[in-house]
Amino acid sequence: MSALLSVERLEAGYEPGLSIVRGASIHADKGEIVVILGPNGAGKSSLIKAIAGLVPVSGGRVVLAGEDITAVPAHLKIRKGLAFVPQTENVFTLMSVEENLRVAAGVFGDRQVAAHIEEMFALFPDLARQRRLMAGSLSGGQRQMLACARALIVKPGVLMLDEPSAGLSPKFVEQVFARLVEIRASGVTIVLVEQNARAALAIGDRAYVLVEGREAHEGPARSLWDDPLIAELYLGHRKEGAA
Ligand SMILES: Nc1ncnc2c1ncn2[C@@H]1O[C@H](COP(=O)(O)OP(=O)(O)O)[C@@H](O)[C@H]1O
Ligand SMILES: [Mg+2]
Repeated sequence: MSALLSVERLEAGYEPGLSIVRGASIHADKGEIVVILGPNGAGKSSLIKAIAGLVPVSGGRVVLAGEDITAVPAHLKIRKGLAFVPQTENVFTLMSVEENLRVAAGVFGDRQVAAHIEEMFALFPDLARQRRLMAGSLSGGQRQMLACARALIVKPGVLMLDEPSAGLSPKFVEQVFARLVEIRASGVTIVLVEQNARAALAIGDRAYVLVEGREAHEGPARSLWDDPLIAELYLGHRKEGAA
């Protein structure tokens, strides 16, 4: 079976001739949570932004469900089923929770907006209780939930997230990640860029460690966590008994 999302030797960067993503190849199968870890500045954000069409690609390709979508403009990739939640500025702070969802659903002329908003409220009950609050007044954790709901309301096959746990207290990290597990159970494939290796590997199926713009390690999430060298070099924790 071929992967739902396949990124092949991708080259991307912000200036011509200066690649930040340097030949990265990753894939995600249907219903997987694929975790992308790596040191600061490794190019994790650049990689998922390039996949989303937000950083110019100079080589390689992005294939979604068998279709080459490398050149599809960012705002149309969501129509193909590829959703992206950036790390910051991922909700409209001056709109209510409900308005945020309405705008996200309405972009493609969704005729069942109200029904789809209620579906999101069923998935994120906290948001339902706060539907009339301004998004800017939500806690960090709830704001991330709203950002996820905005992405999910158009029913993408793949959801890419850039550090949804950044700045959250452990309790909220747990809540957001528990929700990601539910989202996976509904059949959505998740690509999760994270600094929080512990939390991400605990829910991930497979993981990559990105170093200098390309994947340096790949494996089952569990085996990456257990690898003492990877733990020490990239994950910021030292295994008991490791040399
Ligand atoms: N908007 C930008 N313009 C120019 N260079 C950038 C931009 N964003 C990131 N970079 C550079 O790309 C490299 C990788 O950054 P990034 O993708 O944010 O890494 P990570 O998410 O792994 O910390 C860094 O050297 C960073 O300075
Ligand atoms: Mg980043």
